[in-house]
Amino acid sequence: MSSAEQAGAERTLGDLPEPSANGYRDTWCGRVLTDRVDDDVRVAGWVNRRRDHGGLIFIDLRDRTGIVQLVFHPDTSGPAFELAHRLRAEDVLSVSGKVVRRDAETINPALPTGEVEVAIAAADLLADSETPPFQIEGYADDVGEDTRLRYRYLDLRRAPMREALLLRHRVTSAMREFLGAEGFVDVETPVLTRSTPEGARDFLVPSRQQQGSFYALPQSPQLYKQLLMVSGFERYFQIARCFRDESTRADRQPEFTQLDVEMSFVGVDDVLEVNERLLAHVFGAVGGPEVTVPMERMAYAEAMERFGTDRPDLRFGLELVDLGSALQGTEFKVFKSVLEGGGSIRGINAGKREVPRKELDGFISRAQELGAKGLVWAFREGDGWRSPTAKFLSDAELAELNRLLGAEEGDLLLLVADKRPVTDAVLGQMRLDLGERFGLIDENEDRLVWIVDFPLFLYGEAEKRWDAMHHPFTSPVGELDPSDPGAALSKAYDVVWNGQEIGGGSIRIHDAKVQGQVFDVLGIAPEIAEARFGFLLEALRYGAPPHGGIAYGIDRFVQRLADADTIRDVIAFPKTASGFDLLTGAPAPVDAVQLREVGVAIHKPGKAGH
Ligand code: AMO
Ligand code: AMP
Repeated sequence: MSSAEQAGAERTLGDLPEPSANGYRDTWCGRVLTDRVDDDVRVAGWVNRRRDHGGLIFIDLRDRTGIVQLVFHPDTSGPAFELAHRLRAEDVLSVSGKVVRRDAETINPALPTGEVEVAIAAADLLADSETPPFQIEGYADDVGEDTRLRYRYLDLRRAPMREALLLRHRVTSAMREFLGAEGFVDVETPVLTRSTPEGARDFLVPSRQQQGSFYALPQSPQLYKQLLMVSGFERYFQIARCFRDESTRADRQPEFTQLDVEMSFVGVDDVLEVNERLLAHVFGAVGGPEVTVPMERMAYAEAMERFGTDRPDLRFGLELVDLGSALQGTEFKVFKSVLEGGGSIRGINAGKREVPRKELDGFISRAQELGAKGLVWAFREGDGWRSPTAKFLSDAELAELNRLLGAEEGDLLLLVADKRPVTDAVLGQMRLDLGERFGLIDENEDRLVWIVDFPLFLYGEAEKRWDAMHHPFTSPVGELDPSDPGAALSKAYDVVWNGQEIGGGSIRIHDAKVQGQVFDVLGIAPEIAEARFGFLLEALRYGAPPHGGIAYGIDRFVQRLADADTIRDVIAFPKTASGFDLLTGAPAPVDAVQLREVGVAIHKPGKAGH
């Protein structure tokens, strides 16, 4: 076998055993390689493409392992030659014939099987296909995603989709392999359950036997995995479906899959250590990035300070800089009023750029779209700035701004003044935009980082109350001072890969008293806590070991590995942005009898209002 042939076959076949020989086939399409030359083989699959070359008919036959070229010859193929005339794309065939080497000039280097073809002696048409709504072979991006989802079973015949799902399978297999060897036990937890607090809206299922009562689908197995630690399982994992009724985005689905993990008698370092080895194992098994152990860690505060986000993409610079110190006495009213109001002025040095005025205006609109009131742009010129704002700032202020931003001649500077969460959010996103715009991201580089030392609570300005930053079962660092919730740090951690959060978890509270204090700060009254999580609080009183864990978003994990645009491209049967399953038509109305049985009356059919 040639080395190119071997590498290609390795990729498509892996360690797949030969199919058991029967009347349909005795080998895979992708396994018909030069080592089979002169052998008689039988293969089965779908007609990928048919070409009529005068006397000869060529068919590319496809199965899960790839494509092999069949040649139908008028003299040697017998009745199969007549059949070949009638074959159309996606018909299902079983054929037999001799493997022959192709002439040098007809070798197809794009196919692992491209050095050979099968000279067909006999063929059976096993199933006819209607004309597919889009071409499977030579698929182009102009097929709308709705059509792909409507005919997902055809879409999944395409090589990129097939490869994504096979990759996903290899990822979950590697996860199971590692965790099994480390003594983690796979335990299934219920899907019909009670509300679990991950911060999204619940999907509800009406009960027929208890009319008026509802199950909630779990947003995660969080509470059950904690109960399993109380039960003494020590090390648990599950590849679990999670349900969150929130708006779908490129990296979000209403139902998605987690690798969920929990451990007992551990602290933060123990959990991170085993997870670094898990990541190294999985990436090693599927060709992901190199994991250097121990992985980099960054405190939440530092990530916000330098990147304006808790999921920083560390593959490039353009870090955020705090500029308030240069502007303490400024007369520029925009900056002055923000500083007086307790806000901040932050900026980015985007480096030496030539950007037309029109694009600079675009940056301003983009900043406003992201929530800023405006954006100051400037180019360092001499000791000062070329900028519409330059005239409002003193020479000393400009010099100090240049120094803080490390600005050199011609560098493009972007500044936003606002409350801290706004400056961070706007500049954090603009940093990513600029990184892409100026080609600063090396797509071959991978950066994994743990974000640690999260705040325990986050103040919601809109609702005027404290919220759990992770979830309400996350352990504080040290003693919790309920009089100063904003100062409390948590034993929570996220793992961020090239700017995307792929997993997160925490050490949990294992003490009912501390759990009560946390509910207090969150404004969850004891009777509410009792009603919603009474079972967990009770369990914590029966001898709960210190415990903690993590969950990975498997869809996002595979999306990154496959370099797919959306998580839909690594999910067999995903939902659209508006939550539809276009293949089955779910969600769908149900008939009156079904509604009566579950005691539900539809108040007003139609779209949910906002
Ligand atoms: P969390 O809510 O951070 O933690 O979820 C863990 C990971 O799941 C992925 N994820 C999603 N993926 C696709 N679509 C969604 N709608 C979606 N929401 C979340 C993310 C995220 O990092 N019980 C805790 C874990 C723990 O504390 O152990 C939890 O669910 O990649
Ligand atoms: P104005 O006084 O609103 O015309 O703003 C003067 C300049 O400051 C314009 O270039 C605005 O885009 C910019 N600007 C206004 N508000 C802000 C802000 N919050 N942060 C940064 N720049 C701003």
